[in-house]
Amino acid sequence: MDTNKAYAQLDIEQVRSNKWWHHRWFKIACLCFIILAVLTIVLVLLLKFVILVPEKLDSTTTKTTTLSTITTTISTLTTTTTSTTTTTSSITSTSTIITSTITTARHSGWSNTGNMTELRMEHTASLLQNGKVLVTAGFYDDTHLNSSELYDPLTGSWTSTGSMNQGRDGHTASLLPNGKVLVTGGIGEQDYLNHAELYDPSTETWTVTNSMKDKRNFAAACLLADGNVLVTGGFNGDTILDSVEVYDPSTGIWTTTGYMAEARDGHTASLLPNGKVLAAGGFSRHTFQNTAELYHPSTGTWTTTDSMKDRRDYHTATVLTNGNVLVTGGSYGGITQNSAELYDFSTETWKTVGSMNNARHNHQAVLLNDGKVLVTGGSNGSRALHTAELYDPSTELWTTIGNMNNARDYHTACLLTDGNVLVAGGSGDSTDLNTAELYSRSIRTSITIDKMNNIQDNHEISPLTNG
Ligand SMILES: *[C@@H]1O[C@H](CO)[C@@H](O)[C@H](O)[C@H]1NC(C)=O
Ligand SMILES: *[C@@H]1O[C@H](CO)[C@@H](O)[C@H](O)[C@H]1NC(C)=O
Ligand SMILES: *[C@@H]1O[C@H](CO)[C@@H](O)[C@H](O)[C@H]1NC(C)=O
Repeated sequence: MDTNKAYAQLDIEQVRSNKWWHHRWFKIACLCFIILAVLTIVLVLLLKFVILVPEKLDSTTTKTTTLSTITTTISTLTTTTTSTTTTTSSITSTSTIITSTITTARHSGWSNTGNMTELRMEHTASLLQNGKVLVTAGFYDDTHLNSSELYDPLTGSWTSTGSMNQGRDGHTASLLPNGKVLVTGGIGEQDYLNHAELYDPSTETWTVTNSMKDKRNFAAACLLADGNVLVTGGFNGDTILDSVEVYDPSTGIWTTTGYMAEARDGHTASLLPNGKVLAAGGFSRHTFQNTAELYHPSTGTWTTTDSMKDRRDYHTATVLTNGNVLVTGGSYGGITQNSAELYDFSTETWKTVGSMNNARHNHQAVLLNDGKVLVTGGSNGSRALHTAELYDPSTELWTTIGNMNNARDYHTACLLTDGNVLVAGGSGDSTDLNTAELYSRSIRTSITIDKMNNIQDNHEISPLTNG
């Protein structure tokens, strides 16, 4: 029968049109899936090539041709999006070959950040547990400053954080395990100082703590493994000291401990991984020291260790990632050193490593997160330096990097939690400085699609459904 036939035909049509792959929702789901997949791939690519760029040279250009499967998916997105917006009935997959170049340009270098509220040199800078940097006291215009200020890396600005109880410069500042900062000694308006005070970041206030037994200017302080602070040597106005005192933050009490074999000021004191402290160089007995000695906290005594090759004071000492200590530059009378030496804490010996490109004293050295050491500014014996250089522990060599915007010595340099380095104040070309600048290792990346070949192939993946 014709009618039966017609009904049968209708049934078939209905069944066919009811087939699940004919439903509009399925196509929409497909589209959503493809868009999601493409977004995921784009995200993965961004992560791989833009955000997680591997550490390489300071400025690199990496050319990458993306996989053709990925480019095919990207072009499919373009096509399907078009077909959705124009509601055409055909979904077309297009194979397009895109040669894309991903250029990763790494701009490490200097940029100015906010100015400090005061000009200062011979101040200190300490990274607090909250990520801010505390700058204390210093010297400007014949004044031993009593001001302190905080740098906030999030805003790039400085705010005053109260007056210290004693104006000073040439002092020490140590971050304690409880988050407070202990400031000791230096020189004030009237005298050399044994005065010590504590900064509490939670109240942003200063309180006086017990004074040291000795007045000390240009002493070296070092946080011990047990959380106490060791303060070594310094100048008391009459003599350079061999005496050493330990501050216990839980009691606020100073205890005299073993004397160093040599009196020293303008020296360094570095905590080694084995808990000993390495004191190196400095000035005493009318000469610049190349001697070094080790403090043993368990016995409270010092023993002489290997001497450096070069004599130096106002040098730097940086404990590297492997626990060895890099000493750089310093002054030897009228001669400024460019030499660098490495103390191996396991063999307790020094060896010479590559010399810096610039001789410098009263400079700063900072261990970066990648294990390299950034050295900034200082004086070459006649004037302050703009230059900065990087020490690579794997080659034991130095590379000059871009100049700072200001020449500076007697400044501070402090590693921030984001891996950048904050350099602040100091004495410049003609005046003391309120300026601060950041050494940034951040990466800025641009993605360039170089070449997009025209559509090569068109094929249907779905029959007509509308109309
Ligand atoms: C910072 O201080 C210097 C002078 O020391 C001045 O030239 C500069 O304009 C100041 N910068 C800002 C942002 O105030
Ligand atoms: C800090 O120094 C300023 C200026 O020298 C002075 O006026 C002020 O009294 C000092 N404050 C303290 C607490 O010593
Ligand atoms: C220090 O640097 C200045 C400027 O670069 C230069 O003119 C001078 O000769 C240098 N002095 C010494 C002792 O190297």
